[in-house]
Amino acid sequence: MFEFTGKVAVITGAASGFGRAFAEKGAALGMKLVLADVNPEALAQTVDALRAGGAEAIGVPTDVASATQVEALAQAALTAFGKVHLLFNNAGVGSGGFLWESSVNDWAWVFGVNVMGVAHGVRVFTPIMLAQNEPAHIVNTASVAGLLSPPAMGIYNASKHAVVSLTETLYHDLQLAQAAQVAQAAEVGQPGRRAGADGLAGAPGALVSCSLLCPAFVPTGIANAERARPATLRNDSGPTRSQIAAGKQLQRAVQSGKLSAADVADITFEAIAARRFYIITHPGIMATVELRHEDIEHLRNPTDPMSLKPEVKNAG
Ligand SMILES: NC(=O)c1ccc[n+]([C@@H]2O[C@H](COP(=O)([O-])OP(=O)(O)OC[C@H]3O[C@@H](n4cnc5c(N)ncnc54)[C@H](O)[C@@H]3O)[C@@H](O)[C@H]2O)c1
Repeated sequence: MFEFTGKVAVITGAASGFGRAFAEKGAALGMKLVLADVNPEALAQTVDALRAGGAEAIGVPTDVASATQVEALAQAALTAFGKVHLLFNNAGVGSGGFLWESSVNDWAWVFGVNVMGVAHGVRVFTPIMLAQNEPAHIVNTASVAGLLSPPAMGIYNASKHAVVSLTETLYHDLQLAQAAQVAQAAEVGQPGRRAGADGLAGAPGALVSCSLLCPAFVPTGIANAERARPATLRNDSGPTRSQIAAGKQLQRAVQSGKLSAADVADITFEAIAARRFYIITHPGIMATVELRHEDIEHLRNPTDPMSLKPEVKNAG
């Protein structure tokens, strides 16, 4: 089991939705918190609320799309608490509408946050975790949109598919690197770094591991993600019809979500404790995921995921 009490968690996108719920759950478990968000006012309010509840927390205003700001976040975490045991690469945004109507700015913004934000987190924090030589874990927030390709949300789908693939690869890379580390330590007779020393599941001695979170729609601020778009990446012209329709559909879908952000946080922490890789909060979507895989295996043209089961209408 992964122990949470007294350990340090870094959470991006911590001022709203899932990020804030992860912070509240971490605080309830006695973790020390390093909260990052691009919205400094909402971040300060979140940190104040957690501290008022007795949590040890700092806020570090951070744009995860910036390599140097994520590096500064790691430095701030180490300065405040000395270590990092749990990282939530969670900040994310979306824009909808037909793919060919999406602007260069739409691509740059969504990929900057959803893909490069996660890439920066992995690049900066993984070496810190590996060097600590104690249990640590990374959770990357993708989406059901990383497992399916619903229409009129192509940039978001592509960004979340990237997160799925990079996180699966991260899992394999961590297993490989740590198996090699253990073999090397055995050769030079280091007793402290033996296989399975932590008693955790996975490859022998895999002290650092990761999980992939794929939720469907949950009521959070995600349908109003535009509030976090930097001025430099705003569009000159107004939204097209397909973009307006996609925005309305997203608002409806998010509001109709049955699970809360706190439910998602509970499920996620349970999975981390068990070191489970795939975290699927809405198992009703799995039949559609299976169908997509069958389409590929049988070389069938893609089935519209929205035309199938009602659950997929909630596949955010
Ligand atoms: N809510 C859903 O239905 C749903 C479903 C699947 C996946 N997700 C994913 O969950 C994650 C969290 O989203 P949420 O639903 O809690 O939305 P949210 O809008 O409530 O929270 C996202 C937070 O990220 C912050 N943020 C945005 N851009 C940032 C940046 N460049 N750097 C740092 N912080 C930034 C925002 O200020 C906000 O506080 C996202 O990756 C999202 O894609 C959400």
